[in-house]
Amino acid sequence: METNKTFALVSGANRGIGLAIATGLARRGVDVLLGCRDLGRGEAACATLQKEGLNVRPVQLDATDDASVSALALLIAQDHGRLDILVNNAGIGLDHDASLSTTERMRRTLEVNVVGVARLTEAMTPLLARSKRPRIVNVSSELSSFGLRSKPDWIYANFAMPTYQASKAALNSLTLSYARLLKDKGAKVNAICPGYTATEATNFMGTRTPDQAAVIAIKFALLEDDGPTGVFVNEAGELPW
Ligand SMILES: NC(=O)c1ccc[n+]([C@@H]2O[C@H](COP(=O)([O-])OP(=O)(O)OC[C@H]3O[C@@H](n4cnc5c(N)ncnc54)[C@H](OP(=O)(O)O)[C@@H]3O)[C@@H](O)[C@H]2O)c1
Repeated sequence: METNKTFALVSGANRGIGLAIATGLARRGVDVLLGCRDLGRGEAACATLQKEGLNVRPVQLDATDDASVSALALLIAQDHGRLDILVNNAGIGLDHDASLSTTERMRRTLEVNVVGVARLTEAMTPLLARSKRPRIVNVSSELSSFGLRSKPDWIYANFAMPTYQASKAALNSLTLSYARLLKDKGAKVNAICPGYTATEATNFMGTRTPDQAAVIAIKFALLEDDGPTGVFVNEAGELPW
C-alpha cells in the first residue's frame, strides 16, 4: 500500500480555515481527504485545487453522525490502508444565535466540537495506528485558555461565549487525553489556535486570513518525530491550557 505517501483527513474542509489547511498540506505533497458535510460543496472546493494538480479528494463527513464517520473509516481503510494525519477542524459557535435556548446552544455545540471530535478520533485511531508518523491536530481557540482568561489585562479578558469556550476547553482536555492514550503508537496530538480569522464563523470580521490561520495547523500536522505532544500552541508559541 503506497508507503511513501502521506495521507491526511481534514474535517470541515469545504471552506474557511479547514480548506486553507487542506490546501496547504496538499501543496506540501500530502494526499488530502477533504471531509465535508455536503459532498457537492466538497467537490466544488476540490475542483479548483485539482486544477493546480493537487492530490485532494472530497469525502462525506458529518462529525455528529455515527454512520457517516464509520463509512469514512471504512473508505480510508479500503483505499489507503492507513491515515497519517487527522485535523479535527470542524467546529461551530452558537453563542450569538438568539433563536436557540442556552441549553440547545450548548447541546449542539458540544455535539460538534467535543463529541464529534471524540467520535472521529476514535474511528480513525486504528488507521492512525498503522502510520509510521501519526499526527492529530485539534483546532481549538485561545478563548478557552483558563490561563489567559484569568489575566485581567489579556486582550480578550472581557469576552464571554459560554458554550463555545466550554466546548474548546473540553477539546483541549481531549487533546491531553489522546496524547496520553496514543503515545505508545508514536502519535503527536496537539491543540492549536489559528487566531481571529475572517471566515463565515466570524462574519468575516477576523483580522487574519485563512491562509495565515492554517500555518500553525500545517506545522503541527507535519511535526517531526522529536516534536512535542500534548501542547496547546499558536503561531507565537505555547499557550497556557
Ligand atoms: N475563525 C476564527 O477566528 C477562529 C478562531 C479560533 C478557532 N477557530 C476554529 O477554527 C475551526 C474552523 O473555523 P472557521 O472559522 O473556518 O469556520 P467556518 O468557516 O464556519 O467553517 C466551519 C467548518 O466546519 C464544518 N462543520 C460544521 N459542523 C460540522 C459537522 N457536524 N461535521 C463536519 N463538519 C462540520 C462546516 O461545514 P458546513 O459548510 O457544511 O457548515 C465548515 O466546513 C473551528 O473549529 C473554529 O472553532 C476559528
